[in-house]
Amino acid sequence: MTQSAYYGAITGWGQGVPARILTNHDLEQMVDTSDEWITSRTGIRQRHILSEDESNFDIALAASKKALAQAGLEGKDLDLIIVGTCTPDFLFPSTACLLQEALGAENAGAFDLEAACSGFIYALSVGTQFIKTGAYQRILVLGSETVTRFIDFTDRNTCVLFGDGAGAVVLQSTIEKSGLGAFKLGAYGAGGKLLNIPAGGSRTPPTAKTVQERQHFVKMQGSEVFRLAVRAMVDSCVEVLEREGLTIADVDLLIPHQANIRIIEAVGKRLEIDPSKVWINIHNYGNTSSASIPISINEAIESGRLQRGMKLLVTAFGGGMTWASGLIYW
Ligand code: ACO
Repeated sequence: MTQSAYYGAITGWGQGVPARILTNHDLEQMVDTSDEWITSRTGIRQRHILSEDESNFDIALAASKKALAQAGLEGKDLDLIIVGTCTPDFLFPSTACLLQEALGAENAGAFDLEAACSGFIYALSVGTQFIKTGAYQRILVLGSETVTRFIDFTDRNTCVLFGDGAGAVVLQSTIEKSGLGAFKLGAYGAGGKLLNIPAGGSRTPPTAKTVQERQHFVKMQGSEVFRLAVRAMVDSCVEVLEREGLTIADVDLLIPHQANIRIIEAVGKRLEIDPSKVWINIHNYGNTSSASIPISINEAIESGRLQRGMKLLVTAFGGGMTWASGLIYW
């Protein structure tokens, strides 16, 4: 591929997280589980969840406003809005279109992109391509999820794992080497049923029966997903580093999707990265699907852990199955 003159620098960042918190002790009152089981098997201590009057759009908007302010831009400056989400407010209009109106982004195109937990890296790679071709200069990219709205709070296998949240970044065109470099997007459709919501789409529309059978909730074969996730995240990270001509020692910070502390640790170990370079915040948020990486980026910057000039490796795995990794020049 011809080298582009343009890079998509990340110039703004922000997160939107519901104020309401659900702790492991709260869950002990709801299903047959324990703080000890959840903490030791997943690393999660609490998660933020939507209140009844909140939606995906609300947290996406909060994250977007912060990211735009950080970048010194207004909605009308945007050329495009891409929202990675598998839990939108509606099948349509898209969450991106809801944001387009609320931000006054009168010059922007807007669409949602669905790649489950890998959605942010997928969306970041798509947005970056629009900048690399020279088509667009300023793009808002989000991962925004409200998975708890699709969780069966009587199923202990899934209800302890997920939280809600949104993270946004602004990409701006520059000729300085910056933003997303090499990336790898992967998919394994044959594994789709390992993690899915069986009903509610056009194949099985909602009926009294589907509701009664609880088919509108997330179903997951956790241990199989676990095994696939580690392999795909590691292999795609190795490929990305090779394509950038880097080794793992060159990476200043690894931000893996926050699905399970044991997946994070297994990925870090197999990549042979210094554990102090692996970002972990799953204890506070649980699995926020596509939002986990942009929330982590926001926190890593705000805490001073991620600084200009650093090389950031991001990697995710999710429903589909999908996976994605990328090297970001910060
Ligand atoms: N509390 C207590 N016991 C539990 C709980 C709970 N919350 N959940 C499950 N158990 C029990 C099971 O019933 C089982 O009991 P049994 O042996 O009597 O049948 C036992 O614990 C072990 O269950 P496993 O499923 O084998 O537990 P495992 O160690 O694999 O951990 C987990 C389960 C945490 C789900 C893990 O497999 C995992 O994290 N998987 C990956 C999840 C993931 O990465 N998803 C992808 C992203 S999500 C997305 O894309 C939307």
